[in-house]
Amino acid sequence: MSFLLSRKSIVPQWMVEPAPSKDDIDYLLQAAVRAPDHGWLRPWRFLVVEGAARSKLSDLFVSALQKRNPDATEEQIEKERSRPLFAPLVIVVCSVMTEEKPGVPKNERVLSAGAAAQNILLAAHERGYGAIWLTGAAAYDPMVREGLELDENTDIIGFLYIGSVEREVRERARPDPADYTRHWGQ
Ligand SMILES: Cc1cc2nc3c(=O)[nH]c(=O)nc-3n(C[C@H](O)[C@H](O)[C@H](O)COP(=O)(O)O)c2cc1C
Repeated sequence: MSFLLSRKSIVPQWMVEPAPSKDDIDYLLQAAVRAPDHGWLRPWRFLVVEGAARSKLSDLFVSALQKRNPDATEEQIEKERSRPLFAPLVIVVCSVMTEEKPGVPKNERVLSAGAAAQNILLAAHERGYGAIWLTGAAAYDPMVREGLELDENTDIIGFLYIGSVEREVRERARPDPADYTRHWGQ
C-alpha cells in the first residue's frame, strides 16, 4: 500500500540510465497480466522498446508528426523526438479485440488494458523506477500504428516511459477522495 499511496508520474526528461533490467521488465509484465480480465480474453499487448529501438520509435514519432502537421516547429519536433530518448525504456500498451464475446463489450477490454498499464506503473515504482503514462496524438496516429505493426484490432492505449530517477521529485497536492465520493443508500 505504501507504494500505491506514493505513486506519482515522472516526466521522461527527468529519467536517466540505467534502464530496468531484463528481470525488472519481466516483473513489470508479470504485474501487467494480473490485470482483471472479464472473460479471460487477455485483451492486452505489450511492445517493449529498449536500447537502440528507442531511436526508431523517436524517428517514427517525428515522421508521424511531420505528416500530421507539415508546419510543425523545431520545438514541437524536438519534443516529439526526445521522449523515447530520455526514457531508458518504453512499454507500449495496447488493447486488443481478439474475438467477439457476448457480455464483454469493447470498453471492458480497454479497461483491462488500462489496469495492466497501471499495474506496470505501480510495479515500476515499487522497483524504484520513475514512470509515466502518455498518449498524445502519436497514440492515435495511423502512421504510428503501422510503424509498430499493429493490426486493425489493436489500439495503443498508452506509451509508458520508464527509467531511473536521481533527482528529488516534490510531492504534489492530491485530491480529497471525499470530493468524488458519496455514500449511497444510507
Ligand atoms: C490514458 C492516459 C493518457 C495520458 N496521456 C497524457 C499525455 O499525453 N500527456 C500528459 O501530459 N499527460 C498524460 N496523462 C497523464 C499523466 O500520465 C499523469 O497522470 C499526469 O501527469 C499527472 O501526474 P500523476 O500521475 O503524478 O498524478 C495520461 C494519463 C492517462 C491515464
